[in-house]
Amino acid sequence: MCGIVAATARREVSEILLEGLRRLEYRGYDSAGLALIDAERNLLLHKRLGKVAELEKAQAMTPHLGCVGIAHTRWATHGEPSAANAHPHISGNRIALVHNGIIENHEPLRAELRAAGYEFLSQTDTEVIVHLLHQQLAQGCEMLPALKQIIERIEGAYAIAAIDAENPDTVVAARSGSPLVIGVGIGENFLASDQLALRQVTDRFIFLDEGDVVAMTATGLHIENAAGDLVERPMQRVSEAVEAVDLGGFEHYMLKEIHEQPRALAATLGLGSEHHIDDARFGEGASAVFDKVRAVQVVACGTSYHAGLVARYWLEELCGIPCSVEVASEFRYRSRARREGTLLVTVSQSGETADTLAALRDQSEGEFIASLVIANVDHSSLVRESDLVFLTRAGTEIGVASTKAFTTQLVAFLMLAVVLGRRHGLSEVRERELVDALHQLPDCVASTLQLDADIKRLSEAFILKHHALFLGRGIQYPVAAEGALKLKEISYIHAEAYPAGELKHGPLALVDADMPVVAVAPGDELLEKLKSNLEEVRSRGGELFVFADRKAGLRDEPRVHVLNMPHCPAVIQPVTYTVALQLLSYHVAVQKGTDVDKPRNLAKSVTVE
Ligand code: G6P
Repeated sequence: MCGIVAATARREVSEILLEGLRRLEYRGYDSAGLALIDAERNLLLHKRLGKVAELEKAQAMTPHLGCVGIAHTRWATHGEPSAANAHPHISGNRIALVHNGIIENHEPLRAELRAAGYEFLSQTDTEVIVHLLHQQLAQGCEMLPALKQIIERIEGAYAIAAIDAENPDTVVAARSGSPLVIGVGIGENFLASDQLALRQVTDRFIFLDEGDVVAMTATGLHIENAAGDLVERPMQRVSEAVEAVDLGGFEHYMLKEIHEQPRALAATLGLGSEHHIDDARFGEGASAVFDKVRAVQVVACGTSYHAGLVARYWLEELCGIPCSVEVASEFRYRSRARREGTLLVTVSQSGETADTLAALRDQSEGEFIASLVIANVDHSSLVRESDLVFLTRAGTEIGVASTKAFTTQLVAFLMLAVVLGRRHGLSEVRERELVDALHQLPDCVASTLQLDADIKRLSEAFILKHHALFLGRGIQYPVAAEGALKLKEISYIHAEAYPAGELKHGPLALVDADMPVVAVAPGDELLEKLKSNLEEVRSRGGELFVFADRKAGLRDEPRVHVLNMPHCPAVIQPVTYTVALQLLSYHVAVQKGTDVDKPRNLAKSVTVE
């Protein structure tokens, strides 16, 4: 998704802007650009289609230098990926502007600006903002009042940053529906859509609130809230290590992040030797909220949605309370029946996904008793706007296809099931068993990772295929769904998941020698039933890849390949099987030669609808 970096300093900032863009590359983008104001007050611009490396080449050929600048990575929404549509957009050869989000009323504004003589050089919605800003500044308005005037006129979601060659020290910015953070330096200030972009220059951040507008110079910050009052937002020191941007000897971030899971899971569990999960892990006031919970509504997108689907089995089994799970883009737009005592749980790696955030914001009066977010990014919008927070400790996830964030979300949900279960008849003995199983989780995942070479061998059979089916029963069905999602995201093989029992109600028609079928079949009580589904596949010439507990006693047979998984407590098997399927997709993608960490058309964090 789009990324913003801006700087105002007494030193030259082009390299800081480029480094910021490099750090945001993982989020997915198709073009990039930067604009600087030089010592003679000229506005200098480079825009390139493709990677930040292309922008670096342009900068190497024709260096643009300045102490004030803005930069951007774009993920196309309005207008194809091209250099012309890349940001910054300029107006009157003096103003440059970058924007994340979507301006919904861009068409009437464009018509109005055209009538006023403005020429449009791009197909983007963003270009209307820069011309509107120019209109105000040309009438003699100061930068911040001008920005405030124009945000009155635009509808939609935005994070904006702009510079003006005639006000060469200042960056102005505004946020509504898209994140922005100020990085505070010594005698210099920065701005970005994600603090990660600025960790090279500072560890002191001011997270802007919805509706905030900012004027910043190298030495001064002026922040106004949505009501127009001058405000001081707290400065926070972010001490988390910046190790994540380093590949650490792995070929891809995705592989690194898959291997980081034992550590990420242990950090998320945060358990010493104790066998008790404290309500307080979910935030201040969690106990009082949990006492009132009679049902759970999970809302999320993508991989995080799959975490919710797994959680439904745990919450209903261990707590005996109803749990519904829905993708946020559907949930937010339908009329919903109420259920007394429902806790809203949003799940999001980034904490910024537009639809999930909208679902949290759009709840009707009294619809939920409280909101809980399971998120991986502290200070993110979902974290700041939810009543209760569980922070997963996956560390920064760079690979677009989510791996360690997902498995840590599962841990969060299992912990939630334990604390809620306690209030709904979960016995102390069972609680102890569950916490014991959680204690074993990092080691079980480490043993699963040791199957890497075997999984790589299995993956070879997928490279020339165009489709794949994933089957699972019970709680392993959403695990199969997550396995299918990983395969399609990074290898571009069309993959679908079905509850194994549904096979004969449609997908069996697709099964032939060209359709590999992956079955997630731990040795649970459903294995016998699954075995007959597997026969259905085999007898139609399909090739089977069965991930099974080594104690289940399945053996390789003609057209049946068995991967013997480590024997682990049943309750944590959704995590271990997920890890095995992550490795399968990874190896297929690597052998196909796709861009594993930045798959085509996808973005790490989807901050527009
Ligand atoms: C994008 C990413 C997915 C992610 C989804 C939800 O589509 O490519 O990997 O699962 O957004 O993101 P979130 O940050 O809310 O978990």
